[in-house]
Amino acid sequence: MSTKRRKVIAGNWKMNMTPSEAKELVKNIYAEVKGTKHCDVVVCVPAIDIPAVAQAVRGTCVKLGAQNVHFAEKGAYTGEISANMLKDCGVEYVIVGHSERRQYFGETDETVNKRAKAALDAGLTAIICVGEQLWERECGITAEIVSRQTKLALYDVPAEQLAKVIIAYEPVWAIGTGKTATDEQADEVCGIIRQVIADKYGKDAAKKIVIQYGGSMNAKNAAGLLSMANIDGGLIGGASLKPADFAVIVKAAQ
Ligand code: 13P
Repeated sequence: MSTKRRKVIAGNWKMNMTPSEAKELVKNIYAEVKGTKHCDVVVCVPAIDIPAVAQAVRGTCVKLGAQNVHFAEKGAYTGEISANMLKDCGVEYVIVGHSERRQYFGETDETVNKRAKAALDAGLTAIICVGEQLWERECGITAEIVSRQTKLALYDVPAEQLAKVIIAYEPVWAIGTGKTATDEQADEVCGIIRQVIADKYGKDAAKKIVIQYGGSMNAKNAAGLLSMANIDGGLIGGASLKPADFAVIVKAAQ
């Protein structure tokens, strides 16, 4: 089912970098990836860094993403940030349902779906994260878990909005552990996700949708992972904080 899909390399900075540090980091990243045309380069930064980074990336090839979004349009949700607020600051992408949010902040398949829909309705690109835990893989239910998460995240999402959906396959056991999925393991699960999309939206939609891999992707293993038929990019944590390493991953997407 391989076809020419534009790759998307996104850094997830997680809870790192003060606004002043963020400005510095994104400048250094831009210096390394300047002129990139073969793929989209995105940095998903902490909410408080958004204005500083938005200013720094204006007019460059680096696009701005957030790490979470609330599902309500506005209202009494102390501490939360709406899709329109992100949009107004120049944000184009938002991560939804990262495993750290599922694990530490009570995120469920239902709230992932609501956040994804709010993001899409505001015109943001939603990077929806799915992935199994180690014991789920060991029980042989990876396909089941990932299919279920994907289906529930996309509940009530119309086909017209699919162009703004990216699915990031992030096996929980590979995140921040230095234990990357093998090229084949990652490709297999990304293929399963593509099949879920084909079943729900048709073959054409499945051919077009961007599916990233994330979990200890780095300068050394990126080329192998990104050469696989079903892997259309990466969602990168640790290595996205190192401009030179991040740039190697961006180059590997060529
Ligand atoms: P690491 O690349 O640090 O394993 O993090 C992956 C991740 O969670 C990206 O969202």
